[in-house]
Amino acid sequence: MLNEQHLRDPKLPRKGIILAGGAGTRLHPITRGISKQLIPVYDKPMVYYPLSVLMLAGIREILLISTPDDIGGFRRLLGNGEQWGISISYAEQANPNGLPEAFIIAEDFLAGSASALILGDNIFYGHGFSSQLRGASEQSSGATVFAYPVSNPQRYGVIEFDESGQAIGLEEKPQSPRSKYAITGLYFFDTDACEVARNLTPSKRGELEIVDLIGHYLSHQSLHVEQFGRGFAWLDTGTRDSLLDACNFVAAIEKRQGLKIGCPEEIAWRNNWIASAQLTQLGDMMNNDYGRYLIELVGATERD
Ligand code: G1P
Repeated sequence: MLNEQHLRDPKLPRKGIILAGGAGTRLHPITRGISKQLIPVYDKPMVYYPLSVLMLAGIREILLISTPDDIGGFRRLLGNGEQWGISISYAEQANPNGLPEAFIIAEDFLAGSASALILGDNIFYGHGFSSQLRGASEQSSGATVFAYPVSNPQRYGVIEFDESGQAIGLEEKPQSPRSKYAITGLYFFDTDACEVARNLTPSKRGELEIVDLIGHYLSHQSLHVEQFGRGFAWLDTGTRDSLLDACNFVAAIEKRQGLKIGCPEEIAWRNNWIASAQLTQLGDMMNNDYGRYLIELVGATERD
C-alpha cells in the first residue's frame, strides 16, 4: 500500500532510473572483471550514453541500480553527480529478477514521482531525439515507449500494431515475431509504475517482464508509442560485433562533426546546470582530447 511518503504527484519532477545489472555473459571474458556498462564505447564508458539521455530529457535526480559486485565501479566513475549539476544515488539488485524489479527497488527513491527507466547498455542517437524526449517527459499520465524496426526482433520485446498504427500486442523475445518493431530500453512511466510492478507475477523464465508492465498500460488505453524511423540509430552492445559496430558508429560521427555523442559534461553545461568555469575545470582534469573538447566548447561560445 502507498503510505503518506508515497503520495503520487504528477507535478513532481520526473526522476530517472538507470538499470545496469546483469552478468554480461555474452561478452565474456571481457565482462568477467568489469560490468558491461562500464566498458568503453569508443571514447567514454557505456553508461555515459543512457545517463546523457536522461539528462537530455531534463531529468536531474537519478538512481543507478547495479549488482552488489559492480556498484562500487559506478560510484567511482559517477560520484554523486554534483560535478554535472545532477544527483545520482545508487541501489543494488541482488539477483536478475527482471527489469520491472527496478520499480520495486526504486520505490523509496521515486517517492511518488513519475519516472523514466533506461537500460545501461542502450545507445540512442538521432536528429530530433531531444524534443521527442522532452515530449515524453511532459506526459503526466500513462506510459511512453519507443518502437524501432530491427532485422532481429526475436532478440527483443516486440510490439504489434493494427492497420491504423494502434498498438495491439506485446511479446518478450518471441520465436515468431508478429512485427519487426522492437521496444527499445527507454520507458517513461507515470506514478503508478511501482504499484503495477509489485503486482506482476514472474513469467515462465522466472523473471518479471517489462512487457507485462507496459501491457498494463496498453490494456488501460494509456500507452503512448513513439516510433524512431529511418536514419535514427538505436545501437546494440550485447555482442562483440555489435559493440564494435557501436564504437565505430560513435567514432565516425564524432570525428566527422567534431561533436561528441553522449557527453554528460556538455549536456549539463548546455542545460545551464553547470557554469562555464565548471566545464573548464572538468576539462582541465583530463589531460587528453576529451578534456580539450570540453574546454574548447567554452572557448567557442566566447568567440561567437
Ligand atoms: C531487454 C527487454 C526487452 C528490450 C531490450 C532493449 O532485453 O527485456 O524487452 O527490447 O531490453 O534493449 P535484454 O536485452 O535485457 O535481454
